[in-house]
Amino acid sequence: MVSTHPTGVQHTGSQYLPQRRSNSPNQELLPLTARVNGHDFLEIGGCDITTLVQQFGSPLYILDEETLRSACQQYRDAFKQYYQGESQVLYASKAWNCLAVCAIANSEGLGIDVASGGELYTALAAGVSPDKIYFHGNNKSRAELLYAIEVGCTIVADNWYELHTLVQLAEEQESRGAREQAENSSLRTRILLRLTPGIDCHTHEYIRTGHLDSKFGFDPGDLDEVFAFVSQQPALNCVGVHAHIGSQIFERQPHRDLAALMVQWVTKAASYGLTLTEVDVGGGLGITYIQSDDPPSIEEWVKPICEVIQEACAAENLPLPKLLCEPGRSLIANAGVTAYTIGSSKVIPDIRTYVAVDGGLSDNPRPITYESVYRAVVANKMSSPLTETVTIAGKHCESGDVLIKNAQLPKTEPGDILVVMGTGAYNYSMASNYNRLPRPAAVVVTNGEANLILQRETYQDLIRQDCLPERLKS
Ligand code: LLP
Repeated sequence: MVSTHPTGVQHTGSQYLPQRRSNSPNQELLPLTARVNGHDFLEIGGCDITTLVQQFGSPLYILDEETLRSACQQYRDAFKQYYQGESQVLYASKAWNCLAVCAIANSEGLGIDVASGGELYTALAAGVSPDKIYFHGNNKSRAELLYAIEVGCTIVADNWYELHTLVQLAEEQESRGAREQAENSSLRTRILLRLTPGIDCHTHEYIRTGHLDSKFGFDPGDLDEVFAFVSQQPALNCVGVHAHIGSQIFERQPHRDLAALMVQWVTKAASYGLTLTEVDVGGGLGITYIQSDDPPSIEEWVKPICEVIQEACAAENLPLPKLLCEPGRSLIANAGVTAYTIGSSKVIPDIRTYVAVDGGLSDNPRPITYESVYRAVVANKMSSPLTETVTIAGKHCESGDVLIKNAQLPKTEPGDILVVMGTGAYNYSMASNYNRLPRPAAVVVTNGEANLILQRETYQDLIRQDCLPERLKS
């Protein structure tokens, strides 16, 4: 008998065998190395998940190195194959920013997109060279901008306030003698201009950024004025344009439209004497969270963007710019899973059965924030029939703390290990300490080896930043 498991893994007799759609990690529910071992337990990166939980505790974020590296390579290779000019893939580290993840992306030749001083600090500490770091954000502080200027990364200028602050900071530096050669472009602050393209796409309202009503980027109506201003600033070395239209996008047309529009911007800039050599099309490729999700593969996403840029540049008689993109989710989401231990349950006759795990909205705030859907398997019962429909609840004091509604699972009992798939992006990076839950540990797995990349927080960690004024001490 053959039945379909929530992983798309097919149950054929005694084993669930992963059924691949492709090798593009963003199209797979489980990491590429997932298999079911002889005990019918789930293995990732050659490591038995139940053993990892015994060793590193629960809940546990697990990152499969091979899947992450494979996604990095697929992006890199697709640009090499389809783009005749120079290209650079940046990892949007907001998806999961920590030393080990930045180090892996860096070792695959990717640059890093950072969105705060803290992400910048982490990327630098991981050994990423500043010339491969791009700093985003709609309200970077003066201190963050100064930090970025001092380390020499590229700043993606988002608005007028920021442009004026950058000019002011550069002038201050100059007057302190730090910029004797302001005309030397290597000493000028390297910037891209972030523009709002006014391109709509179908994704959750909170993660759409390219439509006109967005807090990010210069309004298209300001284009002439921005180019005119920037071209007159000796302190700024404006090398290109940037846009990002949103996240978890399955449609193919919006990025084609964006690519064509961005070449028009380069042409317009030229009329102000600005030679732009970089075009950054942002990120946004969607991933598979549940079986019915059908995103394009990494190659299918990259290819049309390259084609459109090349055609448009040929039509405008422009040299090919260095083409950049900055995926986050599609690089890392499906390389990650979260393992939880099942505890209590509550049966409400004719209504619902709740099965609770030892984490919840503090380690994965996406369901309560965006109504995101996830799928799960029971790692120690991979070939048991899926007889139950249950709601997976977290352990927080909040009724909305539900990770999965209507999960199809085998019969579970306390101590079973539940593995939620596709949690590599925007889980750890958005985690909190709500209810003072210590944040989970994370391990990277490869070839049967597991290494800690984030220590589990302790109760001491939770009060480390607390201050108890003398007069409140008992
Ligand atoms: N570049 C910029 C400027 C961005 O704002 C983002 C994501 C990316 C690149 C990467 O986009 P991706 O390839 O991951 O789609 N917390 C939300 C997602 C917010 C995305 C924010 N910006 C979530 O959990 O779905």
